[in-house]
Amino acid sequence: MPSMATGDGRHFNANNNSNINHPQLKPNLVNDNHKSDFFSRRQKIEQQRRSLPIASVEKRLVQEVRKNDILIIVGETGSGKTTQLPQYLYNGGFCRDGGTIGITQPRRVAAVTVAKRVAEECGVELGQKVGYSIRFEDMTSNSTRIKYMTDGLLLREALLDPYLSRYSVIVVDEAHERTVQTDVLLGLLKGVQKKRSQSYSESNNDHVKANNGTLMKVENNGQAPHLGRRLNPLKLIIMSASLDARGFSEYFGGAKAVHVQGRQFPVDILYTAQPETDCLDAALVTIFQIHLEEGPGDILVFLSGQEEIESIEGLVRENLKKLPEACQKLLILPLFSSLPSEKQLKVFTPAPVEFRKVILATNIAETSVTIPGIKYVIDPGLVKVRSYSPDSGIESLIVVKTSKAQALQRSGRAGREGPGKCFRLYPESRFEGLDDSTVPEIKRCNLSNVILQLSALGVDDIIGFDFMEKPDRMAVIRSLELLYLLGALTDEKKLSDPIGHQMARLPLEPNDSKALILASQFDCLEEMLIVVAMLSVESIFYAPREKLEESRTVIKSFSSPEGDHLTLLNVYRASLEFLEKNKTENGKEKAEKNLRKWCKDNFINSRSLKHARDIYNQIRENVERMGLKIASCGDDTIQLRRCLAASYFLNAALKQPDGTYRVLANGQIAEIHPTSVLRRTKSECIIFYNLVQTTRNYVRNVTRIDYLWLAELAPQCYALKE
Ligand code: CDP
Ligand code: MG
Repeated sequence: MPSMATGDGRHFNANNNSNINHPQLKPNLVNDNHKSDFFSRRQKIEQQRRSLPIASVEKRLVQEVRKNDILIIVGETGSGKTTQLPQYLYNGGFCRDGGTIGITQPRRVAAVTVAKRVAEECGVELGQKVGYSIRFEDMTSNSTRIKYMTDGLLLREALLDPYLSRYSVIVVDEAHERTVQTDVLLGLLKGVQKKRSQSYSESNNDHVKANNGTLMKVENNGQAPHLGRRLNPLKLIIMSASLDARGFSEYFGGAKAVHVQGRQFPVDILYTAQPETDCLDAALVTIFQIHLEEGPGDILVFLSGQEEIESIEGLVRENLKKLPEACQKLLILPLFSSLPSEKQLKVFTPAPVEFRKVILATNIAETSVTIPGIKYVIDPGLVKVRSYSPDSGIESLIVVKTSKAQALQRSGRAGREGPGKCFRLYPESRFEGLDDSTVPEIKRCNLSNVILQLSALGVDDIIGFDFMEKPDRMAVIRSLELLYLLGALTDEKKLSDPIGHQMARLPLEPNDSKALILASQFDCLEEMLIVVAMLSVESIFYAPREKLEESRTVIKSFSSPEGDHLTLLNVYRASLEFLEKNKTENGKEKAEKNLRKWCKDNFINSRSLKHARDIYNQIRENVERMGLKIASCGDDTIQLRRCLAASYFLNAALKQPDGTYRVLANGQIAEIHPTSVLRRTKSECIIFYNLVQTTRNYVRNVTRIDYLWLAELAPQCYALKE
């Protein structure tokens, strides 16, 4: 057998930055023994920062930002854009007026991991000078000057502060991803920048004195856009890893683009001879092939979602046990959005001596985060995306082939620190047939959330909004229709009062928001809050292959004959009951620990459950602030199901003679997902939370309803059909 990874030279980082990612230590807490560790780590971080490609152009970048109000920065993944540029701007004085540098990311994971890294680089506690803010989690304070956040979060901030007055600079990162939130944000920021410039020049002539003596401009609606600090023009920076900056530059009226030279070593591309029928299996085989036959270096595998990751994680562990002990030194690390952040950060820590890391990641690792040490990339060539059919108004998640640009980005991950190899799990001929670049999300998603957000920002004409790429007209009409059916819009396409305004305030998809509002009217909001929180996390249950039968029996004990929504409610309630009982006996900390054990025994994903609890608390706070009545329906859950039917009426399906289901809105045929508690019982009429298309169509998170409810609760939609 070829030699295994050895300790020396296992990591290909020229700077040997082996200690850089340990939890942050504050200097005053460090005892003498650790002092030298601390200083050597700081030195290594400094050294690593200086060796990044972007470091050589620091001065120039700061100058360009000073000269240009809009700047486009293009640079290969790993060149240091996300972690370094905000620090350069901070040091260059862009926060001197008290303003914050905001950096938006399409993904939560990136916002969190990068903020942690930058806080460490700056030697500060996270949440102080450097922080992050994502939906349901805020790690910032008044002293935060470098703030990483999701693009969706900045959009929400714009609702409360249309001038985004706390920011002196906004960096839209990963713009090439073209998520729908990024596209909306770009259009919005263009407007905000214009308003701020106007307000600035006007305030120079005709300013209003605020109470505290600083300048401010009073807005039309009588609200001060900004208090206490003079509102300077907004600097806007668009960062992208795709080398073609033309689109962005044109959109911003010929804005200047600068390129940061990356460092890329050659990557060998290997293809399979035949198309693979089972991608997970092919990935598994390739992982072991690399592990056993190739030299040192970590492996990065691109998978389409948490479920695929968890299932392959189990398979790798199973197979690893069968190898001789000397070959078992493989560290398996998942990486996906809903993973708790301590676990996410593990991928950045070098593996112990003689070990090889295999990172099982979603698309996050394509450009959003750069993981050191990767020499091998396994790319099955697939990605999970949102897909919307304007005909039916139904959105689904589908797994599609990547574009050429994505395939190149993925293979590039193998060549950051030295020559690498990329194993594409498809034949070369297929690569040639791929689309050049990915279709922007705005062209393939349900737009009702976007419309709701823009309406709340005072933009009523969606078609006329300055998008970089216009959404499909039919999709806009369909989405408007849905909002109208949900009662969020008036006949004049304005937000209705109070429902539309309430829905816009909730950080949820319109259907979920509507379900909460209805639930408050029908005295079951307590339960609906739990259901919505549980639906916001992926995979509450997890069933390892080797314990499939056992897990089925245990999971059954939670299951409700009414369906998955109520089953999730049962799980949540049972976990709370367990926790409460344990708390009185053992104290809070011990109880949490026992809860993790309880989860394990009950085949429940404890991190997903914890996440759901956090989300529950946040949304509860939201609805309390809005004054919604929170009452419980106890065990009488008919109202709860009726509220679900009244908000998810488009996602209704009827049983067919052959046991499959026909989605009423578009006639599509789907099966109930194998993980559903209704899989075997087969109710006549159901509503579903998501539709997932893989080799088959599956509906997931399904609840039994009475089909007569549809005509009663959504007459606009169903009365006509009869
Ligand atoms: O944004 P861009 O892709 O240009 O690079 P970056 O994310 O700023 O990453 C620069 C360097 O920081 C990379 O070498 C990463 O490996 C490193 N990094 C890290 O070690 N730990 C993190 N949590 C984030 C970045
Ligand atoms: Mg980046």
